[in-house]
Amino acid sequence: MKKTVLVSGGAGFIGSHVTVELIEAGYDVIVADNMSNCDRTCFEGVKKITGREDLPFHLVDFCDAAAAEKLFSENKIDAVIHFAAFKAVGESVDKPLMYYRNNLDSFMNVIEAAQKNGCTNILFSSSATVYGEPDVVPVTEQTPRKDATSPYGNTKKMCEDILQDCVKASGGSLKGILLRYFNPIGAHPSALIGELPRGIPNNLVPFITQTAIGKRECLSIFGNDYPTEDGTCKRDYIDIVDLARAHVCAVARMLDGKMEQGCEIYNIGTGRPVSVLELVNAFEKVNGLKLNYRFAPRRPGDVVAIWADPSLANEKLGWKATRSVEDTLKSAWEWEKHIAGR
Ligand code: UD1
Repeated sequence: MKKTVLVSGGAGFIGSHVTVELIEAGYDVIVADNMSNCDRTCFEGVKKITGREDLPFHLVDFCDAAAAEKLFSENKIDAVIHFAAFKAVGESVDKPLMYYRNNLDSFMNVIEAAQKNGCTNILFSSSATVYGEPDVVPVTEQTPRKDATSPYGNTKKMCEDILQDCVKASGGSLKGILLRYFNPIGAHPSALIGELPRGIPNNLVPFITQTAIGKRECLSIFGNDYPTEDGTCKRDYIDIVDLARAHVCAVARMLDGKMEQGCEIYNIGTGRPVSVLELVNAFEKVNGLKLNYRFAPRRPGDVVAIWADPSLANEKLGWKATRSVEDTLKSAWEWEKHIAGR
């Protein structure tokens, strides 16, 4: 019997890539999204890549408890992967209530509706932001979480706690997995799905590709006086398809009854630190172009350096990041050209 996975927020950047990988791994997928921060581009791309014109889509806002309940009661769902959330750090500082209400309500509604309807496997999309500025790098899952630097980051921590508490309270019936993503970048090799930021991008790679294509005049590199080799911040950039495959491994672990704890936590990263300047240089080299950039003051709230120790995910999920940063940056550029040509 094929298992069915609900992907909440499945029309977005990460959700669409995860949907493709789940389908290719043989799962039935139901996509649900309120389309508040995306259009149909990626959903249409998913259908094209997978050849699944009949892929089920539900326009659902998970803040609406009745709508969440309806979706779970009308479909047999074996596992849910929850992405549906706001994710802009700066916006969350300006509109904290909007972030707390949306990100917490929607997740609680998902957990409640899932449990009520016999779906006992919940995967939550968390972030390395929960580690704040770590005292030691790379970070393992045991590295203490720090106070969040933004309401967005705080919602990730709170959602982690909510799921862990619900798993504990269920007496063993509910299973949870928290995946802590490092910096997801790139696009599907088909260039049919990718990141589609609205307005001015906050994240580095969409800003790079938009500058390269001429949509933005100049990339600002925030800070070149950090205590790193070249003075710019270091991150763990993880290819979006690699990241998506980690979800397939995690879902399989849950559905195949392989979990060793009620709630398991995994870092999803490469273990390879790359500075902002190294990333820019790699982008120029692999795509054979020059990028207009300048050094600018530090961005408030940025951590100096963080990267993952992904060995737990490597061992327990049987998952490993495989794509080089060069190939990923090539895919990001192919995607930018694809959307510019539409
Ligand atoms: C941020 C969030 C993280 C979230 C992730 C989504 C925090 C502190 N960070 O990570 O939670 O999961 O986005 O991908 O909550 N940079 C520039 N110029 C730019 C844009 C970025 O120099 O125009 C630099 C930044 O200073 C940083 C690096 O590029 O050093 C990466 O930035 P970004 O892509 O925004 O990701 P993070 O801040 O690491």
